Amino acid sequence: MAAPSIITPLPGPRAKALIERDHRVVSQHYVKDYPLVVEEAMGMVVTDPDGNQFLDFAAGIAVCATGHCHPRVVDAIRLQAGKLLHMCPTDFYTTPVLELAERLARVAPIDDARVFFTNSGAEAVESAIKLARLVTGRPKIIAFFGGFHGRTMGACTLTASKAVQRRGYGPMLPEVHHTYYAQCYRCPVNREPSTCNVECLDHLDQLFHAVAPPDEVAAIIVEPVQGEGGYYVPKPEFLERLRTLTREHGMLLIADEVQSGMGRTGRMFASEHFDLEPDIMTLAKGIASGMPLAAMIASSANMRFASGGHGSTYGGNAVSCAAAIATLDLLEEGLVDHASRVGAHLLTRLHELAARYDAIGEARGLGLMLALDLVDPGNVDVVLQGAFERGLLLLGCGDSAVRLAPPLIVTEQEADIAVDILDEVMRSL
Ligand SMILES: Cc1ncc(COP(=O)(O)O)c(C=O)c1O
Repeated sequence: MAAPSIITPLPGPRAKALIERDHRVVSQHYVKDYPLVVEEAMGMVVTDPDGNQFLDFAAGIAVCATGHCHPRVVDAIRLQAGKLLHMCPTDFYTTPVLELAERLARVAPIDDARVFFTNSGAEAVESAIKLARLVTGRPKIIAFFGGFHGRTMGACTLTASKAVQRRGYGPMLPEVHHTYYAQCYRCPVNREPSTCNVECLDHLDQLFHAVAPPDEVAAIIVEPVQGEGGYYVPKPEFLERLRTLTREHGMLLIADEVQSGMGRTGRMFASEHFDLEPDIMTLAKGIASGMPLAAMIASSANMRFASGGHGSTYGGNAVSCAAAIATLDLLEEGLVDHASRVGAHLLTRLHELAARYDAIGEARGLGLMLALDLVDPGNVDVVLQGAFERGLLLLGCGDSAVRLAPPLIVTEQEADIAVDILDEVMRSL
């Protein structure tokens, strides 16, 4: 694509008028990073109602894996919409559900996998919490500081990313405890990452000893690459130790791959980078290129809900499943490898940028799940706004990072354009 094209001061007159209407009827509790109104989007390009064109490095929060409106995904949706919109999969069999389940079971790092479909990542996480308690007969769940697992009450209790996400909603789900993630750049236990022995996990031993006896813990839920908390890639030993100790104590290990899955990290699932075989996996976001769909996957031995014991009216919607099958086709035909290649190129460019600007503390990530951690967290908003004004869409993550999560179709040339814009923004700080 050519560079972004900004032809009006932002927001332009049409966007402004729409924002004013929005302010009158839509809940305004979520303050947006910048005033973008999306009129249409195609591939890597988002167009606003005034004709401004932006390069999308946010992808609807890491959702539009195959780019906006990929023709094969749109065709699959059209075809399915003309045949069958919906039959509740808990009560009836449909071909899109079974075909997608077959495909996911084949690629998931779980033996003899069974799939349960939901509408959103949070519901997949709720399903995982219920299943873990059911299978183990134990009440407690352990999650990580910085973790994000969704906004429903159970998922929200596991989430420990920002206090505002739980303030005022208590009491939360009982029997949930949090411990440290390997957030090495801002190590929570003040160790030197190059020499540490994942001492962040020692806190877990304390939890077991003092408040959460291991035989009462149903599961540990972990993001193999931490997403909303800051795009932290843990040392392999971190996940290895978690896998070993969960097996040792008969707990289930839940890999929340809602953000890191479906090719985002340059492998189909981030777990693959670490040879991690979780007991339960949750997927959403990129799974259906923007259609609402999520999944919880577990082995047939563990998928033990009683009939009527769990379900969802819309989970496994036929049109969403058709979009997901087309998405999987594209991922398997080369998009995952492409994400790995372009991601490596982009990370190299981000490292160069970090070396040139003291204001950037670290460039990190895997595949196309990349971030720049800024020394002064106050600069995150300035960078997001500066990039927006120059036609680049970015989002923040954690307290101090700017994330780059473009559609997986992004080219090296587009990655270079994004870095050039970031360079200009950093110079202007
Ligand atoms: C790792 C992870 N889990 C769960 C969720 C919740 O997904 P949803 O917003 O679809 O409920 C998110 C959303 O950002 C996520 O990143």
